[in-house]
Amino acid sequence: MHSDIKRVLFTEEQIRERVRELAAQIRRDMEGKEILTVGVLRGAVMFYADLVRELDIPIHMNFMSVSSYGKASVSSGAVRIQYDIEEDIAGKNVLIVEDIVDSGLTLKYLTTTLISRNPATLKTCCLFDKPERRTVDFQADYVGFVVPDVFIVGYGLDYAERYRNLKYIGELKPEVYSH
Ligand code: IMP
Ligand code: MG
Repeated sequence: MHSDIKRVLFTEEQIRERVRELAAQIRRDMEGKEILTVGVLRGAVMFYADLVRELDIPIHMNFMSVSSYGKASVSSGAVRIQYDIEEDIAGKNVLIVEDIVDSGLTLKYLTTTLISRNPATLKTCCLFDKPERRTVDFQADYVGFVVPDVFIVGYGLDYAERYRNLKYIGELKPEVYSH
């Protein structure tokens, strides 16, 4: 285990199993439809890559990038699109794939923005949810794991761009981000 990690919350195996279950659920709900998936850079990359391979139905892979926390561990509250999808989503079945819902600001903003482009359906899938931290009303359609109010890293999630390539999800030691 990395020395900055206090404890492992989810192992590689637990993540893999849960991603399979989420994919099965999405596949059942979207049966017969083509899905335009939107992975939110950069945190969702690992999850997105694993999820779409488990989906096993026709998909288009798109990416969006929004302003993130930067070096702070608390959101500034402002959301800005840094990179937008290039496909026209009007009339399409869209699935946003995100790493984690915290305050809810990012996904609230993303879903509002994409709905204004008139997709046939719009669903959101998040690997992690921290409901205690919500400041705006938002609920994802698919959630992998509900997590307590601790800062987690690994499997795509970072703190100041570090730890994204850990294979497990770990709780970051508070002393790493408190100074
Ligand atoms: P929200 O807009 O507050 O819901 O924040 C969502 C974004 O904050 C996510 O896409 C993550 O990039 C980041 N985030 C929130 N909590 C954590 C965490 O525990 N670890 C790493 N990133 C986090
Ligand atoms: Mg993110």
